Parts: sequence; C-alpha cells; structure tokens
Amino acid sequence: MPHQKKTNQKFPSWPIYNDQEEKILSEVVKSGKWWCGAPESHEGKFVWQFQEDFAKFQNAKFCIALANGTVAIESILFALGVGLGDEVIVSDYTFVASASAVIANNAIPIFCDINPETFVMDVNKLEHLITERTKAIIPVHLGGNPVEIDTLIEIARKNKLFVIEDCAHAHGSSYKGKKLGNWGNAGSFSFQASKVLTSGEGGAIICNSNDLADKIYSYIDCGRKKGSGSYEHFSYGTNYRMTEYQAAILLIQMQRFKEQHKLRNENARYLSKRLNEIDGIKVMKPTQGTSELGWYVFPFVFDPNKFGGISKMEFKRKLQEKGIPCVNNYPPLHTLTCFKEVKLKPGINYSTANWGGNKSDDRFFPIVSEIYSKSIEFPQELLLASPEQLDYIVEFIKLLLK
Ligand SMILES: Cc1ncc(COP(=O)(O)O)c(C=O)c1O
Repeated sequence: MPHQKKTNQKFPSWPIYNDQEEKILSEVVKSGKWWCGAPESHEGKFVWQFQEDFAKFQNAKFCIALANGTVAIESILFALGVGLGDEVIVSDYTFVASASAVIANNAIPIFCDINPETFVMDVNKLEHLITERTKAIIPVHLGGNPVEIDTLIEIARKNKLFVIEDCAHAHGSSYKGKKLGNWGNAGSFSFQASKVLTSGEGGAIICNSNDLADKIYSYIDCGRKKGSGSYEHFSYGTNYRMTEYQAAILLIQMQRFKEQHKLRNENARYLSKRLNEIDGIKVMKPTQGTSELGWYVFPFVFDPNKFGGISKMEFKRKLQEKGIPCVNNYPPLHTLTCFKEVKLKPGINYSTANWGGNKSDDRFFPIVSEIYSKSIEFPQELLLASPEQLDYIVEFIKLLLK
C-alpha cells in the first residue's frame, strides 16, 4: 500500500468540558441540595431549570428530565397505557433500548426493516406489520436522521396507534421545519456519555399534552403529582428522577451545543461529498424533508469488492490503526441473543412476534442485514475535526481501494 503522510493532530475526543463544569458541580455539592426534591419540597434548582430550557430548545410545551433514555421510552409507553400483550412496531436498526423498553412494559416489539439509503425505519413496510394487537410505533431517528415522520403519523392516525419518537440521537434534528420529538405523542432523548448532549447518563421526554406530561411525571416520581405532598402516591409509579449533578452539567453542555452542531453539520456535508465521490462508499443519506440533522453518528456502507474483499471488521481496524475513531453499528435487533433465543420476561407469550428462532433469519430483514454487514460509522466527535483531518480520512480510505 502506498505511504500516506501522518496527520500531526489528534482526532477530537468526547466529552468536551472545561472549568465551567467543575464550577457548577462544585456549586451543587456546596448547596447540599443534590436531588430535585419531591414536589412539596422542590429542593434543587437545576433539574427544574433544565426541564424548562430543554423544552424551549426542542420547541416543546413540556419536558420531563429523568435517569436515562431507556426509561424515558418505558415511561412514555406506560403513561400511554401500552401493556400486556400489546404489540409495538420498532425499527430493527437501533440500540436494544428501543425494544427492551417495550419488553419492560410486558408488551411485544415487532421489528421493521429499514430504508436502504437513509437507514431509518421504512415507513412503506409498516402497514403489513400492523395487527389488531398493535398499539404503538417507535420510529428511531438513527444518527439524528428523521424517519419520514409525516407519513408515519398518517399511518398511525389511520390505525389509531400511538407514536413514540426515539430521539436518543436526534437532539436538534428537525423535519419539514418541526423539531423531532414533537410529531408523535412524545419524544425520548438520551444524555448517555457518547451523545451530542451528555451528562454521562441521563434522559428527557418532551411532549405537548398536559395530561400525558402529568401522567409521565407521576410515573417517574413514585406516583406523586406535581405540587402534591411527598407521601401522597396517587397511582403506580417508580423513581426515575434525574439528579442535580446531571442537570447542572447539561445546562453547561447545552451552551456549547449550537456551535458544535453547526460544525458537525458543515463537516458532515463535506465528508459526505468527498466520501460519496469514492466508487465503493455510500454515506447515510439525509431523509428528504430534513431541515436539521443532529449527526450523532456518521454511518457509511462500503462495497467489499472494491476494497479487495475486506470484511467490515478489517476495514474498521485499518482506520483505527491510523488513529481514526470509528465504531461498529448496532447489530439488527432480530439477531440479538435475547430476541433470537427469546430470553425475555417470564410468563409473557412472545409467539406472535416476527422474531425468535427461525423467524430471526436475516432473509426476513433483508435490507438491514445487508447494510449492517457492510457498514461502519464515525462517532459524532469526529465531525468536530479539522478540514485537514477529514481530508486525511478520505485519502486513507482511497488508499484502501484495490
Ligand atoms: C436509539 C437509542 N435509543 C435509546 C437509547 C437509550 O438511552 P440510554 O443509554 O440513555 O438509556 C439509546 C442509547 O444509546 C439509543 O441509542
């Protein structure tokens, strides 16, 4: 292989922070108020502040902050009354949480194949998955790329289904001028360590219905009601509250978001253009109608034949050896052991699912299986790199061509 000049810059790492985070954390410590408090005591200030700010940021009426993005989905489903034996259609190409939150509610996820260009749920494949047991759809805006959510909402309306938008990757993304998370009944976000807005762990729900917001709030705060007494529990609930530490960090991280988002977008456009010029590389295509894309990850497919029959793991290793951050994509849900071998909740009948045993065969999920076998992705922090570093990546991939 011809020799390539080394880049003398280190690729960006994540998270990005400075002494503002230290200062605000120290403020929380010294305040002695480390939790947001029960409604009556309303102790902390940062969680309440963050909820207000994040709702504004996402153009939503309500925001409920909570422990993580997994329980955010679980809580929305619970509040909407999705439960025992109900079916919920989920993209097959996502992190396990989009489906495990369905399992947590004793319901059954049904996996939907993806669009070969945009890698998100193919809305044309939804209708044949709907049965009399279907209660909801969970579109996952993978990498911040919007599902064709207007068409999906139409299908949901026609079939009287709830829509829970999994926006774990979609901070700042919008479709046809409307921020994601506002199209369906509610949207769930994650602030886990790798996310574009992070507090290590954390999550939020946005919605625009007073009634739903109250139900969700009650569920995540032990069945209490906003403004009620600490020992008043009106319905079944649990404790998924966010801590003051998480909210304080998020308030600072949010101040950096706009600039980082702009840079990620400029770099994603540039990298897409240059990589798509290589015969044998195809970058995830923004869904038509996308107004803003969060770019949580930057997935791309390669044609092994153009790269000397190389496997995706070898391709990834070669990039990593050059110090280029890249990761594997999510294995399709139908292939995960927990679904394939049905190692889930005892006492629940999963026989109506479109996965498990022979039903988990890749040929029933042809697009996602094909895309997964030939794709890897760059994490979002790579999109904060310099133009010189992006060129370095492109030139290195060109050298791998055979
Ligand atoms: C698509 C998707 N949904 C949900 C989650 C769950 O979020 P969390 O890790 O905050 O529980 C993640 C986390 O990576 C995710 O990628």
